[in-house]
Amino acid sequence: MQYTRLGNTGLSVSRIALGMMTYGTPEWRPWVLQEEASRPLVKRAVELGVNFFDTADMYSGGESEVLTGRFMREFCRREEVVIATKVFYPVGVEFGGVAPSPQPAPNRAGLGRKYIFHAVDASLARLGTDYIDLYQIHRWDPATPIEETMEALHDVVKAGKVRYIGASSMWAWQFAKAQQVARDNGWTRFVSMQNHYNLAYREEEREMIPLCRDQGVALIPWSPLARGFLAGNRSRGDAEAGATSRAQTDNLAQSFYYRDSDFRTVERLKAMAAGRGVSAATLAYAWLLHRGVTAPIVGASKLPQLDDAAAAVALSLSPEEVAALGEGYEPHPVIGHN
Ligand SMILES: NC(=O)c1ccc[n+]([C@@H]2O[C@H](COP(=O)([O-])OP(=O)(O)OC[C@H]3O[C@@H](n4cnc5c(N)ncnc54)[C@H](OP(=O)(O)O)[C@@H]3O)[C@@H](O)[C@H]2O)c1
Repeated sequence: MQYTRLGNTGLSVSRIALGMMTYGTPEWRPWVLQEEASRPLVKRAVELGVNFFDTADMYSGGESEVLTGRFMREFCRREEVVIATKVFYPVGVEFGGVAPSPQPAPNRAGLGRKYIFHAVDASLARLGTDYIDLYQIHRWDPATPIEETMEALHDVVKAGKVRYIGASSMWAWQFAKAQQVARDNGWTRFVSMQNHYNLAYREEEREMIPLCRDQGVALIPWSPLARGFLAGNRSRGDAEAGATSRAQTDNLAQSFYYRDSDFRTVERLKAMAAGRGVSAATLAYAWLLHRGVTAPIVGASKLPQLDDAAAAVALSLSPEEVAALGEGYEPHPVIGHN
């Protein structure tokens, strides 16, 4: 494994982060693995040198944080490991699953001061730790002044509950505004951007990625394989009889990708991967690592998938190969900001 600094910070993170959304309870989303099935995967990731783990309070209604904390205590040294979690969405298996979410009760979501103070303590309790390494806002909250959010985030840092703060999918102007508000007031600024970026979805290359690179903000994209689509085992009939549980039941994947141009991207990826003797997944991760990404946040439901991810760190691509993989990409509607 290779390690790098998270943006401009002194924090060392592995070039592969493990996404903990896959671990929790299938009551939330049917493809999610329970504790016993999850444990060997997290153990293997640690053995491969992964020290960076990304969860969120809302994943599996809080159960993903519970498992993340438990596995970190079982397999890691707390001072070595980087635990990232998120705040914004309401927490409960009834929210964010496959069925339509109910309306959250007042102050059960968002980025207001009261909710952030509540949510950080709830995450700490579920994780079973006394600090969070990277506390991320999962989305932009249009109902709360950004000054209130940034001051509250600064306060949880100064209270010792959080070491660094990060943001996730939003418009570039919103991110720039938040950083400026923090700068103007001497408050803690975001050190990372967790956005939606992969070979099948490159809209972030327009504004957000250049902004982050200019400002030294770490890029830690989510769904680096387009929810498994780029692994090359997806087909149009997945909703009826997909190759895996996730292929069949992850309706977000089917609505985000699965366009003709996306399938052509996968064909190019598979052809080059075969020529290089690696899996399509390894090559898709390597492409991101050659595009200025600090660490893709990988999802893994089977042990060999972790080996494929780790192999990407050592795979060197020529500028021509990087360019060839991106040829023929067709713009997508913006996905994942709300
Ligand atoms: N900030 C946000 O809004 C946001 C949004 C989404 C995700 N995330 C974060 O990003 C993490 C990763 O998201 P994701 O799970 O959607 O990522 P992903 O890496 O795009 O997709 C993971 C899926 O790809 C398939 N896969 C992985 N490696 C493979 C391989 N070598 N060969 C074949 N198939 C392979 C697996 O599908 P099968 O299970 O079908 O085999 C796996 O479940 C999450 O855990 C979470 O931490 C954040």
